[in-house]
Amino acid sequence: MGSFQFGCRPRPVPCPVPGRNPRAVMQSLLTLLFLAPVLAIAASIQPPVELQTGHAIELDQRAAVAHNGVANTRGFSVHLARVHAKMQRGFAAYAKNTGSEHPNFHIVGKFGRRALATVGVPLTDDDELLWHGTVSVGNPPVKYKVDFDTGSSDFFLPSGDCKTNCAGHVRYNGSKSKSARATTKGFTLNYLDGSQVKGKVYNDTVSFSSSAMNGTQLVTTKLTANGAAVGAASVYSDGFALDQFPPDGLLGLGFPQISHFGRNPVVHNLIQQKQIKPVFGVKLASSKSELMLGGVNPGKYKGAFTWAAVNPVGFWQIKVGSVQYKGKTFKKNFSAVVDTGTTVIMGDEASVRALYKAIPGSKDVSERVSPGAFSVPCKSIPTVNIQIGNMTVPISPASFNLGQLYAGSKECLGGIVIGDSDFWILGDVFLRNTYTQFDIGNKRVGFAALK
Ligand SMILES: *[C@@H]1O[C@H](CO)[C@@H](O)[C@H](O)[C@H]1NC(C)=O
Ligand SMILES: *[C@@H]1O[C@H](CO)[C@@H](O)[C@H](O)[C@H]1NC(C)=O
Ligand SMILES: *[C@@H]1O[C@H](CO)[C@@H](O)[C@H](O)[C@H]1NC(C)=O
Ligand SMILES: *[C@@H]1O[C@H](CO)[C@@H](O)[C@H](O)[C@H]1NC(C)=O
Ligand SMILES: *[C@@H]1O[C@H](CO)[C@@H](O)[C@H](O)[C@H]1NC(C)=O
Repeated sequence: MGSFQFGCRPRPVPCPVPGRNPRAVMQSLLTLLFLAPVLAIAASIQPPVELQTGHAIELDQRAAVAHNGVANTRGFSVHLARVHAKMQRGFAAYAKNTGSEHPNFHIVGKFGRRALATVGVPLTDDDELLWHGTVSVGNPPVKYKVDFDTGSSDFFLPSGDCKTNCAGHVRYNGSKSKSARATTKGFTLNYLDGSQVKGKVYNDTVSFSSSAMNGTQLVTTKLTANGAAVGAASVYSDGFALDQFPPDGLLGLGFPQISHFGRNPVVHNLIQQKQIKPVFGVKLASSKSELMLGGVNPGKYKGAFTWAAVNPVGFWQIKVGSVQYKGKTFKKNFSAVVDTGTTVIMGDEASVRALYKAIPGSKDVSERVSPGAFSVPCKSIPTVNIQIGNMTVPISPASFNLGQLYAGSKECLGGIVIGDSDFWILGDVFLRNTYTQFDIGNKRVGFAALK
């Protein structure tokens, strides 16, 4: 069973002074949006569903946010810093690819930098909050563990000649793959801590395998993207060293507009090459999490999808109706990015402060845990509602609660934190409460109730 990973990972910040190249984005826009259904297979879920068009892949979360009910506060700080950096990189790539500034590009930077500054010593791998997954690249195919991320759009791996922070990772050696073609494109991704990931872009074959039930028969299906852009990093930043980042590489599931390579993301290659329909579905939970490529899983959701248009196309960015607690509205009609790679919900400072002020017993734990973080009493975890279209998604106390501040503490880390701009991010804390359909073809996100 192949498993795909959603989780946090090192997040680059923009390269200095991006050039303007509207053509790159035109080249990378999808032209094939309506594709014939491919293999009709049933997923290996309980109870089994009838034939469907998607490829179901189980997801495994490597480390929970909380260990034995206690919050992983250090991993949490690192995670927040990385989210801030990733958003900045996305904004920069968007400007470079489209020739216009992203409408939400006005980062304060205060919380991201301070979050990073709270992390003094190197992490152990336990500090990361990850999901695991495997892809094969090249011919002969070599397997790599990767981190899947709807909040970015590039795929990169450490290269054979990497001497900085690559020890222990499986390396990609373009000259050993018969299907690899070296391109003339190089890439550099800068990080908040001043380090970089850089290397060369290859075109190569990337494949995903999943096991699924076809009727009563277990079949392994393989999806193959030929000529996909694979970044071979000859330098990894500190954040990608094995003790901090157990997977080998990172694979983005966002749109081409935020691709730093100016290329189609791998899933878009799969669509153009008629391997899948232009959609994927996600269920994130403490168990039986799943990514379905090319469809949604009727065994995991019920009722109709509520749709929200993606605008602008780049991140999976949608309009959210409101954030409410006990009938009171704290934020209305605002833009948010749906990001499987972010653990928390991140919001603007004024609204998040007002929200926690209304929650009895909550405290600002910026100094004790991480800038922008709050605690709530463990005995009375609030239920915050997020309204999108005509659907209200209650954030269950179990998903809102990120664990006790320390073993035995009566205070628990809250799942909504202050971000760096008026731009919100709906991460795992939100996504665990809904089935989410990422509709690439129609540029919209659908939400349905979990079964
Ligand atoms: C990459 O593969 C080529 C061809 O097999 C080999 O000569 C070279 O030493 C390899 N480089 C590394 C760093 O593994
Ligand atoms: C790599 O793929 C891109 C996009 O399909 C193509 O434009 C480019 O020519 C390819 N480069 C090589 C060296 O094959
Ligand atoms: C699934 O089963 C049907 C009918 O037995 C068959 O035609 C089809 O090729 C199978 N699909 C796969 C992926 O094995
Ligand atoms: C609102 O919900 C109804 C089902 O109750 C659905 O048919 C309709 O499409 C929804 N509207 C939107 C905008 O999602
Ligand atoms: C939501 O905000 C947009 C501007 O971003 C505005 O055009 C629209 O009228 C607002 N809708 C509501 C219901 O307030």
